Amino acid sequence: MNPTRCLYPGSFDPVTVGHMDVISRAAAMFDTVVVGVLHNPEKRGCFPVEKRVEMLKKACAAFSNVQVISYGGLLARLAKEQGFRVVVRGVRGVGDLESEMMMARINRQLCPGLETVFLPASPEKSDISATMVRQLASFGADLSQFVPLEALPDVLAAFEDTEESGR
Ligand code: PNS
Repeated sequence: MNPTRCLYPGSFDPVTVGHMDVISRAAAMFDTVVVGVLHNPEKRGCFPVEKRVEMLKKACAAFSNVQVISYGGLLARLAKEQGFRVVVRGVRGVGDLESEMMMARINRQLCPGLETVFLPASPEKSDISATMVRQLASFGADLSQFVPLEALPDVLAAFEDTEESGR
């Protein structure tokens, strides 16, 4: 059988334990998982792309079959250029499904044969998002349940000066 390979794309701004749940489950299903930090070169996220990649690399270091890349363009183009046939996406709940299915259909239209596999979030991870992590971080909340430990110092450092006093 041919070795199987998948692309797990996202913004990862920053990586969360929800993302790690998807990565570890995908790593058990595929020979190789390529985590792709996809970004629009004209839009600035909270963390610079290089920092997002660095945090992901630290968090994924224990997985020998996981690689991390970044790409500033269309997912379908990346899939064509690098020969991906399978995209993995985590789904936290039904609210995610409509847009995820639309994305999967468009990507398959742009890159015929490209399949998207949805992994339902583990129940205890289904409320965790990067948006929520950024908001908690801005208020100085304890992030240890939400961000992988390897990435935690980088997230805390980025929000060190922005913590609100609550006054
Ligand atoms: O972590 P996110 O923000 O849910 O990830 C969304 C992402 C990056 C996978 C999506 O926005 C994307 O694929 N961006 C690349 C541009 C693209 O291909 N857009 C068309 C999708 S139909």
